[in-house]
Amino acid sequence: MKQTLNSHLSKLKHICSRQQLLELDYLVEEVEYKKQSYTAIVFYFEDKLYAYLNHCMHMQRRLDCQQDNVFDKERKRLRCSMHGFVFEPMTGECLSPVCMGQKLTALKVLEIDEQIYFSDKYVQMTR
Ligand code: FES
Repeated sequence: MKQTLNSHLSKLKHICSRQQLLELDYLVEEVEYKKQSYTAIVFYFEDKLYAYLNHCMHMQRRLDCQQDNVFDKERKRLRCSMHGFVFEPMTGECLSPVCMGQKLTALKVLEIDEQIYFSDKYVQMTR
């Protein structure tokens, strides 16, 4: 049993502590996803943990390509700074007309003992 848990833990990729993420508001992490370079965004929303590729489907830009922020002013929606398209933080679904219903790529994340990890098999850390 312990061995199974250890082998499971060894596949997790440590990101940061819960406390660090709460202090930062959201975190941008360089990753490889399916062997391509991206950044990922990781954040809490209504006390739940989420992560997505930082990659707007509209014109293939980072959400923070024009501004150093991935949220709107009220921190209710994710927002791409290129053309202002907004996304539901809990699903990654685009709420703006051109890309309505398309979704940001969600990444699996876990919190264990106040530490946050990617548990997504397609994600590799680049640091
Ligand atoms: S590239 Fe994101 S809204 Fe246009």
